Amino acid sequence: MPGSPSLLDALRGAVGPAHVLTDPDVTAGQVRDWSGRFTGTTPAVVRPGSVGEVAAVLRVCCDAGAAVVPQGGNTGLVGGSVPLHGEVLLDLRRFDALYPVEARAGQVTAEAGVTIARLHDHARAAGWEYGVDLSARDSATVGGTIATNAGGSYVMRYGATRRQLLGIEAVLSDGRVVRHLDGLEKDNTGYDLAGLLCGSEGTLAVITAARLRLVPRPTHVVVALLAFDDVERALDGVGELRRAVDSLRAVELFFQDGLDLVCDRLGLARPFARPHRAFVLVEAASGADPTAELADAIEALAGVADSAVAADDRAARDLWRYREGHTEAINQLGAPHKLDVTLPGDQLTAFVEEVRDQVVARAPSATVWLFGHAADGNIHVNVTGVAPDDEGITDTVLRLVARRHGSISAEHGIGTAKRAWLSLVRSAAEIDAFRAIKTALDPARVLNPHVLLPRDDND
Ligand code: FAD
Ligand code: MLT
Ligand code: ZN
Repeated sequence: MPGSPSLLDALRGAVGPAHVLTDPDVTAGQVRDWSGRFTGTTPAVVRPGSVGEVAAVLRVCCDAGAAVVPQGGNTGLVGGSVPLHGEVLLDLRRFDALYPVEARAGQVTAEAGVTIARLHDHARAAGWEYGVDLSARDSATVGGTIATNAGGSYVMRYGATRRQLLGIEAVLSDGRVVRHLDGLEKDNTGYDLAGLLCGSEGTLAVITAARLRLVPRPTHVVVALLAFDDVERALDGVGELRRAVDSLRAVELFFQDGLDLVCDRLGLARPFARPHRAFVLVEAASGADPTAELADAIEALAGVADSAVAADDRAARDLWRYREGHTEAINQLGAPHKLDVTLPGDQLTAFVEEVRDQVVARAPSATVWLFGHAADGNIHVNVTGVAPDDEGITDTVLRLVARRHGSISAEHGIGTAKRAWLSLVRSAAEIDAFRAIKTALDPARVLNPHVLLPRDDND
């Protein structure tokens, strides 16, 4: 029985009393999501320190009929990392071992609780780099980014998290451990369990470690910010830059209203003398200085109204702040609805034009903020000024996306926030296949049973 003394005693037996937290004042930060839109309750936050302890916790929960929500850095933005149905919260952050970089293979094994920032530092110190980066890097973990198949800013060059994944160690819901961490680039021996667990949002297994591919560390990085007075021109420019600049690794998009908000909230100076319609931030990185290549390509673009090129690392970080500061600045307005969607390239401009109008028509108090990873067609639609539980906002945005043949989740996952809309983009046959996989790996529905799949009779 969730919360019963016998469950808590059994959990204490599994991980030791010091690692079972029950005081609501202590667990408050972990039952509330980063955005503040989703808050749950838990009988206990449990902090296992070994694979055996994870297995023991899952067996205890299985026997007690208690569901479990795995949690890493709790930076997920779709309500999947917090216990919204009174689940036990399984905190993986004690899994913090990071093994030496294997220089011949360009690989590293990291435990699930290692943060992405730590992984970056570790890889860079060995002359390599990890190909996934996101502004939640100081808190987001290896396990959480695998569980969500996190994207971030470098997807156009290196792919999302699944592309970095060469092997995994994970605990199944019955306590058995699957471990395949040898990192062989060529290994056609059966189903790709690592690929399957990647993006499974804690519903299939608890990830405890991973073997990750690294990329060569570029010695030269150049960042530029381009201003456009026309959205279509800006998006055409994105395509042109992709074609012309080999060393490109990030192309990000934002708008004047978002830039103003970031500058006002975070106390930054405006980058240009006058307002513009759209901004494209580009980063090129290479073993040879890409400045001239990037400058030539920018010069050749039509419609660039203004531009700024960072002369050093500090200036580069300052330009990135205009883009990365959006999440923090928007959150200061109150818990937003966050919808991370992808559109086909030829639908982006029309979507950007219509989504603001449609949301405000549905909810006149709403303000719509748009920004994203332009090279991937990934727009983040953030809506403030509406009640956290106003599902009409989600419905309006996701139906527009589906009508334009986009995806309702580019990178954050489905979580609880979007599960009711999965059928907009996945067929009944696909969802049945998802359910069959879930039932095969977690027949007792212990692992995050209320996320990803649409609600059914068992919910
Ligand atoms: P959590 O939030 O703790 O969990 C996320 C999901 O994974 C949950 O369903 C949870 O149950 C599951 N999970 C966590 N750990 C495990 C594990 N060990 N085993 C099994 N399941 C597990 N996302 C992007 O894709 N791109 C971005 O650019 C990006 N930028 C962000 C910027 C900010 C400021 C913030 C706050 C978030 C951003 N995110 C982004 C979202 C978030 O950082 C990612 O989803 C990230 O992958 C979550 O990692 P986490 O460790 O915080 O996982
Ligand atoms: C981003 O691209 O900044 C992240 O995905 C976070 C967000 O959507 O706010
Ligand atoms: Zn993003």
